[in-house]
Amino acid sequence: MRLMALLLLRCEAVLDLLTDLKMPRGLALDLREQRLYWAEDGAKKIRSATLDGQDLKDVIVKDQVQEAPRDVAIDPTNQKIYWTALCCGLRRADLNGSNEEVIANAEFASGVAVLDDYVYWADWMHGTILRHHVVSGEEEAIVSGLASPVDVALDAEAREIYWSDVGLGRTQRASLGGNNVQSLNMSWAIMNTYGMAVDTDAKKLYMADFEKTGELSGRSTDYSGRIIRTNLDGSGAEVLVREPSMSMPYGVAVDADASQVYWTDRKAGRIQRLTLMCRNGTKEVRSRTNVTVVSVEHGEVFHGSSTTMPCPAGYNGTVTFACNDDDLTLVRGKCGKRCAPGTVEYRLDEKDPFSRALDYPDMDDGEELPTDCPGSLVGTVQLKCQDGAVLLREDQCRAARSCSAGEFLLGHALIQHSAMDHGIMEPSSCPSGFEGQYFLQCQDGEVIPKHNSSCRATCDAVGSLWVDDGRVEVSHGKIIEGGKVKVVCPTGSAGQGVHLACEDGYINVTESTCKRSSFCQAGYINSGGASVFHDNLDDKEEIVLACPEGFSGSLDVTCEATTILTEGSCQKGCTSGVVILSDLTIPHGDVGHGQAVQLDCPAGYTGILPFVCMDGNMTCTDCLCIPKATGSSKRSDLPIAAFAAGVTAAVLLLLFAAGVLWHRMLKRRAMAAAVAAAVGDIPAPLSSSCLDILPKTGVRSGHSSTSAPTASSGRGSTASTGYHRADTDVFEVVIDPPCLPLYWATKAGIHIFPDPNRIAEVQQLMTDTWLPHFTRDRQLLGGGRVPIGCRVANVLRVENHRSYARYLTYKDALRLKRSGPCTPFPLRTSNRINLLDDDVNESYLFHGTNPESAQCIARDFFRMERAGSSAGSMFGPGIYLAENASKSDEYAKEGSGVYLGLCATLLCRCAVGQVLTVPEARDTREAVRAGGFDSVCGDRLKAVGTFREMVFFQEEAVYPEFIVIYTRVFE
Ligand SMILES: *[C@@H]1O[C@H](CO)[C@@H](O)[C@H](O)[C@H]1NC(C)=O
Ligand SMILES: *[C@@H]1O[C@H](CO)[C@@H](O)[C@H](O)[C@H]1NC(C)=O
Ligand SMILES: *[C@@H]1O[C@H](CO)[C@@H](O)[C@H](O)[C@H]1NC(C)=O
Repeated sequence: MRLMALLLLRCEAVLDLLTDLKMPRGLALDLREQRLYWAEDGAKKIRSATLDGQDLKDVIVKDQVQEAPRDVAIDPTNQKIYWTALCCGLRRADLNGSNEEVIANAEFASGVAVLDDYVYWADWMHGTILRHHVVSGEEEAIVSGLASPVDVALDAEAREIYWSDVGLGRTQRASLGGNNVQSLNMSWAIMNTYGMAVDTDAKKLYMADFEKTGELSGRSTDYSGRIIRTNLDGSGAEVLVREPSMSMPYGVAVDADASQVYWTDRKAGRIQRLTLMCRNGTKEVRSRTNVTVVSVEHGEVFHGSSTTMPCPAGYNGTVTFACNDDDLTLVRGKCGKRCAPGTVEYRLDEKDPFSRALDYPDMDDGEELPTDCPGSLVGTVQLKCQDGAVLLREDQCRAARSCSAGEFLLGHALIQHSAMDHGIMEPSSCPSGFEGQYFLQCQDGEVIPKHNSSCRATCDAVGSLWVDDGRVEVSHGKIIEGGKVKVVCPTGSAGQGVHLACEDGYINVTESTCKRSSFCQAGYINSGGASVFHDNLDDKEEIVLACPEGFSGSLDVTCEATTILTEGSCQKGCTSGVVILSDLTIPHGDVGHGQAVQLDCPAGYTGILPFVCMDGNMTCTDCLCIPKATGSSKRSDLPIAAFAAGVTAAVLLLLFAAGVLWHRMLKRRAMAAAVAAAVGDIPAPLSSSCLDILPKTGVRSGHSSTSAPTASSGRGSTASTGYHRADTDVFEVVIDPPCLPLYWATKAGIHIFPDPNRIAEVQQLMTDTWLPHFTRDRQLLGGGRVPIGCRVANVLRVENHRSYARYLTYKDALRLKRSGPCTPFPLRTSNRINLLDDDVNESYLFHGTNPESAQCIARDFFRMERAGSSAGSMFGPGIYLAENASKSDEYAKEGSGVYLGLCATLLCRCAVGQVLTVPEARDTREAVRAGGFDSVCGDRLKAVGTFREMVFFQEEAVYPEFIVIYTRVFE
């Protein structure tokens, strides 16, 4: 919850510096002049404003789209601005825009940065990082072999250059001379990291990153972006800003002194700023119970972190502040005011006329102190210091009870006393026959002797002594000094008698066995689980005892010569409550044991329920409620069925949620594998059962010239086939689930991720099959200019398990259709990329499209209903693929957004099967069906010297395995 709150606060903390800009891209700060400069692509301008977004100026204004600036860099020392554009070289000018000059040819330059007379830039087309010395004019490529580097950032202190390569989805750094290239740990990134900036002091790297989240509707909501900060090696990534409205953050710049980060949002057309530090000072917080305002001192706090400070003197506690942007907020803790020594007034209640004073010492906030009740009150009360005020808690004070008149046994003297108030002490002389003084005090209802009270019987008087705890009175005569007397037990008591001795003028009771007789001791009688108390009973005394609450019946008790005789018994009744009849709840009142009641079914049901209370349980042998509406029985099965259905639904929901989590986990693993692949690690291997039967050579990429063994990647799901290994061992294996290509990293779902290891070979395949022929389609679709080649920016591997399973099933069906293998049909792509199944003429073929559609097809299927929709369908409505990359390029379109300037072709696995070759354009569907063919080769190469096209009429005959993102290369 707290994290959520922090995120929300962060959103509010971002400042919109400038809005309504037209596609701002690169951004740079001039900290000497305290101004910011940015390339505004859509306006074809470089503009400038103060760091607070005031004093807007146009610095460079261009007319042509190609001249629109992409990125800017500032050299504050020489007061120069450098920028890149789609064309026309890397340029620079004075900060006011004058003295514009071209300083390097720098075609395809994207990000630019300046340091010490060197200007560095990324060439996204050729995959190089270059630098140019502005004085000597020397120019060199310091790093090459990249895919699509877009932005560069410099660490002036560590003398390093950073760049993001969106083609390979990774971020790297090297020394300024290009040595020691390292890939940063960027596994968290979505890989559309277009902007980068280094905070040299704090040793942090800032990046703008975004992903496509919606359909490409052209709105800013198609994207979702974030500003990320990491350590310089890419570790410790944290998302600084993730606003719902953040669309496509692009250029990033950081002002280390002011701890502020600036970025452009290309799609949302604005520049925003986040302040990354809260300054030292004092923060006012309300005290714990909001009675006072407390000023807490704190130091500097960085954005996104928190500080815990002790409360000032006079308060207890600590408070934790979190810094969000430049705003410090209290996130945890309280300051509670301490309590200075004092007095509270105590009254028993509002009506109590007496006010008593309770003193307390210095107390900490929250401290509790148990204290005796004041004045004449008895009990204890807790004093609690709460934010400066002392409260009384657990108040157990009450007025003490007084003592009623009665008897008190002191030694062997039975003393009568009158009623006494609590605390009152009465000194008295001992009764006649006894000598001494006593003090009785009434303590909260109890009479207690004090101050060595004692009464001693004297030998020289006739009198009485009390034994057996005062229950038996023994009379005695005078006893001579040293004399011993035995007195028999008086009437109403039994025993051997009482022995008295006179010593020093006083009588001692040396032995007494007299007990009050014919007397039943107080005690408990157990009956039917109830425990019933009776008092002392005299001989022959008879009483009737009621059973306790919750029981019925009564006990007739008689004392018969010290023995208790009982008649009658107690039975446990049923106290009011509810009975549960299947899922119906039916209330009932108190029901005595053995008593029967008729309960009613609840509203909506009918039926009579004869319940009986037996020893505390409501029982009914055949109770039944029937719903009124349908008349069907509602015993217990119906509600239980409903309950079961509910439980099932809940379990299904849980399973579904678990499934979603599982799917996410797989996706993360796949991402991790892709990232591992991107840094050159081997992808995670698949299940061992598949590995065993796959050929050990040739499955990895490469232009294998060895012929494919019988076993090959991707056998059918139900096939049970003998496989021949190189060593001619023959063994049977049932393959289930379908074996996947060895290099796949996932086992389920749909995943698309970069496969940079493929770039080189796919580039080679496209180059080898690129024939710059001019065709009718090229004229219709491409506007005429024929590219002489292409440059592969990235290869994405499609692991669409559903679609691949369909493809495998289709291949199996092809095999079953005929007894032997299909007539071989060599294509220009044969024996490239991977080893495939020759028996069904499995081949790789190209299908040109745009990057967005390529993703859709890869995630879904080729759709027959859309077949031939984008180009003429010369050979009937089907899926058209080409063996020449240049043919598929005719149908390729440049993408937008992230894919601006980029085309896509799908490199598909195709089950070509038996081929019908036709030279002229005509609908071939009927001929294919009639002749038992599986595909058509439209041979326009033979006919008019252009290309061969392969046409398929089954969606599942084609599996798009790679999405190739490329740019066209013109002369
Ligand atoms: C903040 O810190 C600076 C330097 O450390 C100090 O000069 C200044 O007085 C401090 N300000 C407050 C409000 O504590
Ligand atoms: C705290 O007290 C102030 C004024 O005494 C009041 O405006 C504020 O709403 C109180 N806040 C809370 C959380 O009770
Ligand atoms: C409360 O504050 C006082 C003085 O500032 C300190 O001595 C005491 O230990 C604190 N008590 C608690 C519970 O933190």
